[in-house]
Amino acid sequence: MNNLYNRHLISMSALTTTDITNIIKRATELKQQAEYNLLANKIIACCFFEPSTRTRLSFESAALRLNAKILGLGDINATSFAKGETLEDSIRVMSAYADLLLIRHPQAGMAQLAADYSEVPVVNCGDGTNEHPTQTLIDLFSIQECQGTLNNLHVAFAGDLKHSRTVNSLIKALSQFNTSFSFVASEGLQLPEKNISLLKQNNNSYKLTNNIADVIPEADIIYMTREQKERFADNTIANGITTLNLKLLQQAKQNLKILHPLPRLTELPTVIDDTPYAYYFQQAKNGIFVRQAILSLILQNRA
Ligand code: CP
Repeated sequence: MNNLYNRHLISMSALTTTDITNIIKRATELKQQAEYNLLANKIIACCFFEPSTRTRLSFESAALRLNAKILGLGDINATSFAKGETLEDSIRVMSAYADLLLIRHPQAGMAQLAADYSEVPVVNCGDGTNEHPTQTLIDLFSIQECQGTLNNLHVAFAGDLKHSRTVNSLIKALSQFNTSFSFVASEGLQLPEKNISLLKQNNNSYKLTNNIADVIPEADIIYMTREQKERFADNTIANGITTLNLKLLQQAKQNLKILHPLPRLTELPTVIDDTPYAYYFQQAKNGIFVRQAILSLILQNRA
């Protein structure tokens, strides 16, 4: 049963553990054995209103590998948005030109608004501080791949937990898998109350700290995030970003893997790239297979 067929993908809240397992299974099949013609008659539109490297290019690469065709908005200033056209009107029009819309927008809630006005499925590629569900599915695929399971792991999140949509979406997903959590953030970048409420509701164990050394010895996964200054409100005062270093990793378990949605800044020094803990470039590469799985499950009604 393919529950994703012809549906929008806006929030991880809408996916069951079975849906997640099915997406990971399909991505695993596509990683093991390429399939070329799944979307030969489909057109996918990239509607990105905010910068992106990985999400946009890995979706484009995934679509091209499945033989779909791609439309892109390109420079927003060269479109009718520059004349003041609303998102609602633009989405109504663009959804008549493509079979699926990929939306990234700096404002939370705009992917849902796009879905409300679209004739075709909309995939949220990041909306402000809200959600980034396709990144989360890549994160889950990568965790399954490097740990052999999604269940009963200790996952430590560190960095800017206040403004990170990838953290918000991944907590929603992992809280369904009996995860125990640690959250490491300096003052001003701490985890929002809405995430803590969800963990309490789901009976997940969690620890809050400002010292990353406290969590390294028990972590199976450390999920680093950069300081997201482009999402700071005018009154945000952040007291530095939590940073990893080689000395801290001397306390790590052998199976520890470090993930990062990228791009990185100073929180994840390049010297860590050569350690067996680094998994973030494999994670970025997995974007191709997971996004192929998402596109083909939404656009094809196969069992
Ligand atoms: N991880 C991620 O969303 O990267 P981009 O902003 O480069 O798309």
